Amino acid sequence: MRGGRGGSKFAGMSDRREFLGWLGAAAAAGLAWPRSVAALERRLGAGGLLPSAAAAGAGAGSGAAGTFGPGPGPGPATDDFWELVRQEFLIPSDRLYLNVGTLGPQPRVVLDAAVEHMRRVAMTYPPGVDWSGLEQALGALLHAQPAGFAFPRNTTEGMSFVANGLELKAGDEILTTTHEHIGGLCPWQLVAKRHGLTLRELPLPVPPADAGQLVDVFRKAVTRRTRVVSVSHVTFTTGLVMPVRELVDLLRPRGIVVVVDGAHPPGLMPLDLGALDPDFYASSPHKWLLAPQGTGFLWLREEWRTRLWPSVGSGDWDNLKLGAQRFNHLGTLDESRLAGLAAALAFHQAIGPERVHARIRELRRRLAEGLATVPGVTVVSPPDDGLVAGMVAFTTGRVPALELQQRLEKSANMRTRVIGEHGYGWMRLSPHIYNSPAEMDRAVELIRKELA
Ligand SMILES: Cc1ncc(COP(=O)(O)O)c(C=O)c1O
Repeated sequence: MRGGRGGSKFAGMSDRREFLGWLGAAAAAGLAWPRSVAALERRLGAGGLLPSAAAAGAGAGSGAAGTFGPGPGPGPATDDFWELVRQEFLIPSDRLYLNVGTLGPQPRVVLDAAVEHMRRVAMTYPPGVDWSGLEQALGALLHAQPAGFAFPRNTTEGMSFVANGLELKAGDEILTTTHEHIGGLCPWQLVAKRHGLTLRELPLPVPPADAGQLVDVFRKAVTRRTRVVSVSHVTFTTGLVMPVRELVDLLRPRGIVVVVDGAHPPGLMPLDLGALDPDFYASSPHKWLLAPQGTGFLWLREEWRTRLWPSVGSGDWDNLKLGAQRFNHLGTLDESRLAGLAAALAFHQAIGPERVHARIRELRRRLAEGLATVPGVTVVSPPDDGLVAGMVAFTTGRVPALELQQRLEKSANMRTRVIGEHGYGWMRLSPHIYNSPAEMDRAVELIRKELA
């Protein structure tokens, strides 16, 4: 391949096999792979796709955890490197996928881990999942106490656990915004209707001048009856990054519970849950972390691990010693998705979180700058990198966004998202590491042509 070309940072990484070897060796230091992924290691190890030491460390049938050394360190990666990364995905070469904001495609190692787990279940030897290893790996990536994690299927379920589990009574008020996804909004609508709560959706400036303007929206809106503020960390409408820490500083002294719909940030941007310190943070690693669909998490601040009511009654629902783990007792589960989550975390660490975040930022910026030159388009996502992540949303001039979406799908095999919610009528694009700068340019030119 191109690895031997002059100038490549990965010169010498001459073929896909070598890259996979590097990938295995570069997985996060100290990350313990759960049993089911150990089975995958053995299989890949036997095929020579992972370093033999790692494969041997996995131990045949022992469930022992393999540990990999650190990757090649931070720093920019070359186009050659990203081309190799693209080959780890099953996305057809002519497919222009720009909707990770809805669902992330899984790389091979993730798919294989999930499938291997399912195979073992079918063989009547369910390997189980190392839940504690998952908590540790997520905690390390997101700077969060591992004991705070529970594993619902997605953000919607996590947010529902919170809305249903808090003790709220008629007259209590919940504040949210007019930029919430149904997954973060409907759980509150449901409890509001059932218990006679007031739910107020506050408009946000589009785009805001700065984070302070966003905090002011809530400063002005809170009343003596406000019990909960629920916001997206990154909105699905425009990719706006909400100032969660500043909101916590404003609201916690007033006794208001801060609930964050964090569907997007893990895998998309640096996330320090310990520093943000919300009461609850619900997420969907099947988006930017590229985990199997139906893989969520809910992180609970320490006081809530024993206080929140579980929504599902099963064994140990009231065993307070279990803390957040009470919320994992949901009857029989599809654990293969969690085996896939463990592999997704390893994959993310192997590429390098900083490298992933920087690549997404670069691709997003290229898209936004290109789209700004298209007649009829107005970019509604914030222009400032500090206020936006991963997505670019825009008006589509004389062609309605839905029609543009259909035309692009048909003519260019391009997947986009229309933000029809709340009457916005925008188009949204969201790239990830399997995309290239050339694809960003192509997307812009395709849109320019359709809108001409
Ligand atoms: C901000 C936000 N919240 C919640 C959701 C719902 O996610 P899920 O379907 O994984 O529950 C989405 C999905 O796109 C989203 O963008």
